[in-house]
Amino acid sequence: MFEVNEGIIQVSYIIATILFILALGGLSNQETARRGNWYGIAGMAIALVATIAGDVTQAYPYLIVALLVGGTVGIIAARRVQMTQMPELVAILHSLVGLAAVAVGFANFMDPDRLTHYLGVELTIHDIETYLGILIGAVTFSGSVIAFGKLSGRIGGKPLTLPARHWLNLALLLAVIWFGYEFVVQSAAGGGIEPLIIMTVVSLLFGIHMVMAIGGADMPVVVSMLNSYSGWAASATGFMLGNDLLIVTGALVGSSGAILSYIMCRAMNRKFLAVIAGGFGTSEGTAAAGGEDQGEVAPIDPEETAGLLTSAREVMIIPGYGMAVAQAQHIVHEITQTLRDKGVNVRFGIHPVAGRMPGHMNVLLAEAKVPYDIVFEMDEINDDFPNVDVSIIIGANDIVNPSALTDPDGPIGGMPVLECWKGTTSIVLKRSMATGYAGVQNPLFFLDNTRMLFGDAKDTLDEVFKGL
Ligand code: TAP
Repeated sequence: MFEVNEGIIQVSYIIATILFILALGGLSNQETARRGNWYGIAGMAIALVATIAGDVTQAYPYLIVALLVGGTVGIIAARRVQMTQMPELVAILHSLVGLAAVAVGFANFMDPDRLTHYLGVELTIHDIETYLGILIGAVTFSGSVIAFGKLSGRIGGKPLTLPARHWLNLALLLAVIWFGYEFVVQSAAGGGIEPLIIMTVVSLLFGIHMVMAIGGADMPVVVSMLNSYSGWAASATGFMLGNDLLIVTGALVGSSGAILSYIMCRAMNRKFLAVIAGGFGTSEGTAAAGGEDQGEVAPIDPEETAGLLTSAREVMIIPGYGMAVAQAQHIVHEITQTLRDKGVNVRFGIHPVAGRMPGHMNVLLAEAKVPYDIVFEMDEINDDFPNVDVSIIIGANDIVNPSALTDPDGPIGGMPVLECWKGTTSIVLKRSMATGYAGVQNPLFFLDNTRMLFGDAKDTLDEVFKGL
C-alpha cells in the first residue's frame, strides 16, 4: 500500500530495542518502574508501526481487523482483571505467544515460495528454525494453559507424578529429535507435514505433562519459566521470519525470564532442574499434618492490637496475599503514618514470593504511597527480628511458616521464611485457620508469642486504626 525506506525501518527497530532495554532497566527498581513502563509502551508502539509499514505489503484490511479485535480483547481483559488475578492473566498471555509461534511456523512451512526461496543448506537451516519455533511455541502454549488452570484454581495444585515420568519425558525428547530429522529430510523432497504435526502433538503433551508435574508451591518458578519460554518462542519466530527486532526482543524476554526463574529458585531454595523435573511442591505427608491438633490459638481484638502497637518501639509489617485480597494497603499506610508520627519505628519485610507474582507486595505498597525507604527485602531484615516488639502479619501464611525450616521434606521445606517468631509478639491477621497457597498448616499460629486477629484484614485494620 505504501513504501517506506528500509533504512528508516531498521533505525526504528534499533530505537525500539533500546527502549525495551531501558524498560527492563527501569522495571528493576520501584522508583523508576513507571518510567520503565512508558519506555516499554513507546518501544512497542514504534515496533508495531515499523513492522506494519515495513513488513506488511498486502492484506491491510485483515491486519486492521485483527489489530482492532486483539486490541479490544486486550483492553477489556486488562481493565477487568483484579490485581490478585494478574499471574493468571500473565500465564494466559504467554500461551498466546506460544500459539502465535506455532501458527507462524505452520504458515511459514506452507508458504508456496519456500522451496524456491531457500535452497540446499539455507533450506535446512530455515526448516530447523521453523521446527524449533513450533516446538518451543507448542510447549509454551500447552504449559501456559495448564499454569493458567492451576493458578485460577480450575486445576488442582497437586503435582501429577506419573510412575515413570522421567522416562516418559526422555521418550518424548527422543521422539522430537527423531521427527526433527525426518522433517528436515522429507521437507527437502517437498513433504514433511506429517513429522511436523506429530512433533507438535508431542510438544503439546510435553508442555501439559511438565506443568502438571509441578506442585502448587512451585508455581511462581513455573510462571517465570514460561515467561522465558515465550521469549525464546518469539525469538525463534524472529529467525523464521528474518526479523531482527523479534529476535532481539524475544531474547530479552527469554533471558530476563530465565534470570527471574533463577532468582525465584534461589528465594525458595529450589534447584531449577528439580522444579522442572516436577513432583515438588505438595508432599502429602506434611499437608495432612495440617489436620493434626496443634493446640489452641490465642485471639486478640483490634483495640488490644492498637495498644500493643502504640507501646512498641520496633514494628515489622509483613504483608502477604491476603492484604491484596482485602485491598488493605491504604489503611496499612495510614496506620504506618500514625505510628511513625508517634515515634514508633515501622518497617516492612517483603518475602520474595509473597502474594501471587514477583513484586506483588511492592506494587501494592507503592500504590498506597508507603515510602520506599522503610520497605525491606527478606534478606535485609531477617536478622533483626529479635529486636522487633510487634510483627503484624497481614494475610500472609506460607512466607512466615516455621515448618519450612523444621520440616525439610514438606511442601515448602527449605524455603527461607521471615522469622517473625523470634520477635516479642506476632499478630496474624486472617479470616480463619485456613492454610495458604501451599496447603500446609502453620505452627506459627500456635506459638505462645503469637496472637490471632481474625477477620477480613481491611475491616480489622480499620478497627485498629480507630483504636490508635
Ligand atoms: P498464602 O500463604 O497464600 O496465605 C495467604 C493468607 O491470606 C491465607 O492464609 C488466607 O487465610 C489469608 N487471607 C486471604 N484473604 C484474606 C483477607 N481478605 N483478609 C485477611 N486474610 C486473608 O500467601 P503468602 O504468605 O503471601 O505466600 C505466598 C504463597 O503463594 C507462597 O506459597 C508462594 O509460593 C505462592 N505463590 C507465589 C507467587 C509469587 S511469584 N509471589 C506466585 C504463585 C504462588 P484465610 O483464608 O484464613 O483468611
